Amino acid sequence: MGRTAMTREYPKKPMPTDAMTQPSQGDSVVGAKGHRVDVEAHLPKPKDTCWRIDSHTLAKHRILRGYLQAWLPIVGTSFPRIRLIDGFAGPGRYAGGEPGSPIIMLRAILEHAARATISAEITFVFIEEREDRFEELQRSINALRAVTPFPANVVVGTRHGRFDQLMPLIAPADETQRPPTFAFIDPFGWTDVPMKLNSSILGIDHYEALIYVPLPFIARFVDDPAVEDSLTLLYGDETWRTARALSGEARIEALRSGFETAMLKHTDYVRAFDIRPDGNRGYTLFFGTRSLRGLEKMKDAMWSVDPAGGCLYSDTTDPNQEVLFRPEPDFSQLELMLRQRFAGEVFSIEAAELFVLEGTPFAKSHLKRRTLKPAEAAGRLSAVDPAPGRQRGTYPSGTRLRFQT
Ligand SMILES: C[S@@+](CC[C@H](N)C(=O)[O-])C[C@H]1O[C@@H](n2cnc3c(N)ncnc32)[C@H](O)[C@@H]1O
Repeated sequence: MGRTAMTREYPKKPMPTDAMTQPSQGDSVVGAKGHRVDVEAHLPKPKDTCWRIDSHTLAKHRILRGYLQAWLPIVGTSFPRIRLIDGFAGPGRYAGGEPGSPIIMLRAILEHAARATISAEITFVFIEEREDRFEELQRSINALRAVTPFPANVVVGTRHGRFDQLMPLIAPADETQRPPTFAFIDPFGWTDVPMKLNSSILGIDHYEALIYVPLPFIARFVDDPAVEDSLTLLYGDETWRTARALSGEARIEALRSGFETAMLKHTDYVRAFDIRPDGNRGYTLFFGTRSLRGLEKMKDAMWSVDPAGGCLYSDTTDPNQEVLFRPEPDFSQLELMLRQRFAGEVFSIEAAELFVLEGTPFAKSHLKRRTLKPAEAAGRLSAVDPAPGRQRGTYPSGTRLRFQT
């Protein structure tokens, strides 16, 4: 039987009890003939309550932590209420004692340097389907609370049940009651994350989602008729089928770009961040947001992860522009992208900043000092009609530039 636990009443509207008592179906989907099909039976999913952490989970957690550290002071000082949802919360800790994503999310506020200025009511919603993990999650949260009491503006709600069944009940239908919401969607496989549900999150102003999709597994099973319904649910249509005609990296790439396209039908910006354990491609975090500021902060978070534990990270949003995230970025790649975009044109520094943010994997902070300044010093870039007194290598607003041909 599903249960709900919370430190304060949440949500304000009563939850329909039938949705909280649905029997768990495991990772299955309703097949064409109406019976439930276990499409992920072959996936290496841990059976124990807590399991050993791996390098790509650590990488996911670094991104999550980095983004929330930037997101919380922005929205937490501009809105009266904000919300963080972990749709596949897990037990809150790993076998070696490492924190799970709910604890990382809570610590992002509890340990935030700007916590005193974050006045919004912050509601956390943690959803976990398995009873033993749900109970362990509550223990993990209580253990954290015992060490670091939660401030009065932090409201924690845990939900026992399935993300696809509980999430539609969490977002109130009334548009005006919807606080800025960040959802972390981190299943083991790909079922129970229908695009229809993701689109209902992404389609709302101030809602954003970080979705983990293990594309190599999908690529492995994509020919199997048993997965058809689950993939159509995941993508929201049948576009995934194009991957069947392809193999290897091309198949993963088709699945990746198809998922990005599906997300872009519902939100304004999507970035695909690849975590590559041992160099393998395709374990991808997709971030969707309608906020340019959110995009900027997520890119900063992505650039701040250090390669660790044999993991490489790359932005794979555009296969022609794949960029490895590393402590010393390859700024010549960014200069090339700028050259291609503004070839022969006079462009403003504002246009360049927008392009870097929207159209490249690079962060805004990579533009002026690290890319434009050396290009100008080497004579590859010049300022057009610069303001009197402008110093070379500085780019105040209104500066206009042109690359040498
Ligand atoms: C990859 S783990 C989550 C790990 C966690 N997000 C973290 O980073 O520490 C996926 C979790 O989702 C749970 N789960 C599986 N299907 C679910 C569903 N339909 N709804 C909610 N939770 C589910 C599993 O029991 C498991 O604990």
